[in-house]
Amino acid sequence: MASRWKGVTALLFVIHIHLSNAKGGGSCDFFSGNWAYDASYATYNQTTCPFVQKEFNCQRNGRPDLNYLKYRWQPRACPLQRFNAKDFLQRFKGKSIMFVGDSLSRNQWQSLKCLLYSSVPNARVNETYLGQEDVTTFTFLDYGVKIMLHRSVYLVDVVWEKIGKVLKLDSIQGGKLWMEADMLIFNTWHWWNRRGPTQPWDYIQIGNQVLKDMDRMKAFEIALTTWARWVDSNIDPTKTRVFFQGISPSHYNGTDWGELRATCLGQEQPLLGSTYPGGLPAALAVLKQVLSNIEKPVTLLDITNLSILRKDGHPSIYGLGGVAGMDCSHWCLAGVPDTWNQILYNLITLPQH
Ligand SMILES: *[C@@H]1O[C@H](CO)[C@@H](O)[C@H](O)[C@H]1NC(C)=O
Ligand SMILES: *[C@@H]1O[C@H](CO)[C@@H](O)[C@H](O)[C@H]1NC(C)=O
Ligand SMILES: *[C@@H]1O[C@H](CO)[C@@H](O)[C@H](O)[C@H]1NC(C)=O
Ligand SMILES: *[C@@H]1O[C@H](CO)[C@@H](O)[C@H](O)[C@H]1NC(C)=O
Repeated sequence: MASRWKGVTALLFVIHIHLSNAKGGGSCDFFSGNWAYDASYATYNQTTCPFVQKEFNCQRNGRPDLNYLKYRWQPRACPLQRFNAKDFLQRFKGKSIMFVGDSLSRNQWQSLKCLLYSSVPNARVNETYLGQEDVTTFTFLDYGVKIMLHRSVYLVDVVWEKIGKVLKLDSIQGGKLWMEADMLIFNTWHWWNRRGPTQPWDYIQIGNQVLKDMDRMKAFEIALTTWARWVDSNIDPTKTRVFFQGISPSHYNGTDWGELRATCLGQEQPLLGSTYPGGLPAALAVLKQVLSNIEKPVTLLDITNLSILRKDGHPSIYGLGGVAGMDCSHWCLAGVPDTWNQILYNLITLPQH
């Protein structure tokens, strides 16, 4: 009798896992929760990971406070397994993981390199850069694991033509490079609002229509829809797992968290609740809408809520510094993107449906 019940329980358990996975994490929602101070929390530093570039290397650039390194993300509904680098490398033996997007992708890519490398400190590694494609490949040679970064700030193409540089909202030539990866993690958003000298295009094209400019949120939505169609026609879900890194929030205006005239400079603590007075970026709703219409499985790494609480996590003046000055968009490493990768690890270790 007892063993029969065990069988039924096991069957119910399998059904439960299946249902929760179908929703991409489902009952195990890693993205709602709060940050808790933990003095013993440690990831990596300059000694254990020499690969953090200046832009994100806050400690080396003289950031005086250390508490921002000591916050652990606690999902409300379920525990977060710690990041297990050796298990990660075993799972991806002979495989490649490619981040595609802007500098926020580079932020997460460097975090993943460091989370892995700091746990296998004597590992033989190699990094190569292909300038024409703008692809950097970091290889753990003993495992044959490639951690790749393709810089593609809009995901859709920017093409030189007679009239100038054209942002083509319905074209993805760059997708050729993505086909070889076993896991893809996309991201785009921060460049859509660029204007003036740092806007890297002169015209926007949709079909035969060439425009000098248009509503940027609409342009973002059209480009994401083009990307979604690319995924639907090119991804084989039995070979390639696809993620989208959610919208990474910035903290330039303290009004958003109830501190007039503040920026991220000098912030030494996260917001300790679960909600953000300023609300979530509008781009997130657009992204979720597009993802809801995609046919192939794509998991949203929904990092906006947890990151928006981390007004203390940015380089501020301890990044590139200089004329560009204040950086309240990127994240210090070690730091918040380590949690993004920890959640990524938790998601890939859940049983596949
Ligand atoms: C770096 O981390 C290692 C291992 O956790 C630790 O022993 C060392 O003291 C740290 N170094 C610095 C400069 O923080
Ligand atoms: C790194 O990879 C490149 C390209 O495959 C190769 O030419 C180079 O010899 C490698 N370096 C090391 C140290 O293995
Ligand atoms: C910050 O946001 C508030 C409310 O939207 C706005 O009134 C204020 O001008 C902003 N401050 C800066 C420095 O942009
Ligand atoms: C994210 O934050 C918003 C606003 O604080 C809240 O309404 C929403 O439930 C949160 N979402 C998740 C997934 O936690």
